[in-house]
Amino acid sequence: MDLTNVLRDCNLLSSLFVLSTIFFILVTKLFFNKRTKNLPPGPPQLPIIGNLHQVGDKPHVSLTNFAKKYGPLMSLRLGKQLLVVASSPETAREILKTHDKLLSARPVPTSFKLEDVLPNTLVWSDCNQTWKTLRALCRTELFSPKALEAQYKLRMEKICQLSDFLRKKQGEVIDVQNVVFTTLFNTLSSIILGKDLLDLNDEDKASKGFKESLLKVIEFAGRPKDLGSFFPFLERFDVEGIRRENNKHVHKTFSYWEGIIEERRVQVNSSTWSSEQAQSFIDILLEKKFSNDQINEFILELFAAGTNTTTCTVIWAMRNFVAKGFDRIFNGQTLSQGIFVSAGLGGMGENLVGKSPTCAEEV
Ligand code: HEM
Repeated sequence: MDLTNVLRDCNLLSSLFVLSTIFFILVTKLFFNKRTKNLPPGPPQLPIIGNLHQVGDKPHVSLTNFAKKYGPLMSLRLGKQLLVVASSPETAREILKTHDKLLSARPVPTSFKLEDVLPNTLVWSDCNQTWKTLRALCRTELFSPKALEAQYKLRMEKICQLSDFLRKKQGEVIDVQNVVFTTLFNTLSSIILGKDLLDLNDEDKASKGFKESLLKVIEFAGRPKDLGSFFPFLERFDVEGIRRENNKHVHKTFSYWEGIIEERRVQVNSSTWSSEQAQSFIDILLEKKFSNDQINEFILELFAAGTNTTTCTVIWAMRNFVAKGFDRIFNGQTLSQGIFVSAGLGGMGENLVGKSPTCAEEV
């Protein structure tokens, strides 16, 4: 091959390259323009990845900054996934209340696409029959005024356990977050399983392992980085290993209460059983003939949704007490008065003072 031929081939190749690049950009632009029609404003997007490169490790911070520029309703694209962000009370109301039917249900992350979990999930369900049944059970058996009143004594017991523990530890450094988590977790596990699963005084290896797994499951549920969701063709390969890892932790948490389920199942199935003997939420689920898979997933979701949220809220409130000064927040009231009044629990405060004076002083 002589030099002129080589040069002609090179020219041909580079023209082909330029043409195919222009074609690719046009196609991607067309694809993105078609999909961004009628969407709220948002930062400019790159082909294929959209805004993935701009979200970073702290999505709440980058999204706050974008909202300052693009307003309280904005749209971004994370790979193939469209993200519409509402960041004012008005836009949140539009999404969560006015258009709730249209916009309810969450996209299931790669980590929770687990065969034995999805059929029984409340958190990742569409508005289907499973979701309706589980929500109805939560409403009547856990959160109704009657249920909350019935759990009152138990909550007070947990507060007393906490104050006893704190009294014993006076003068020592303690991990407040851990102590609050354990107390709130035990409150929930007593309501659900009829037992404490953790011990404030004795953090053995098993309970440490359990906590670790539960926190991992919570982390996977809210993990912003999920290649399988951004690029669905990657999902089944689980390139980041998050489905495998989450599956391990999900089943590890199940193993901590499976013995209790079996123990209660024997009681509930016995010939002498009557509904008045039900001691906890799990007895009600067993009476309704829930399978182990159904119970495991439901309980895990309640623990995951109900422990870190409440712990963070308490820690946030305590930080505010410390930072702003208790007196400034509660205007000179005692701590117990202040907490009960601010939480709208005046009645509960009176009950507490009447029923358990030693505890009330320490709350
Ligand atoms: C300060 C405490 C809490 C906060 C801030 C909080 C916040 C939230 C939020 C923002 C949602 C999503 C709502 C939505 O997508 O429409 C949610 C859902 C949920 N929460 Fe809570 N929560 C708290 C306590 C609890 C507790 C104590 C439990 C259970 C014992 C619980 C169980 C659930 C469940 C099961 C869902 C999913 C409901 C569904 O998808 O239908 N949460 N929570």
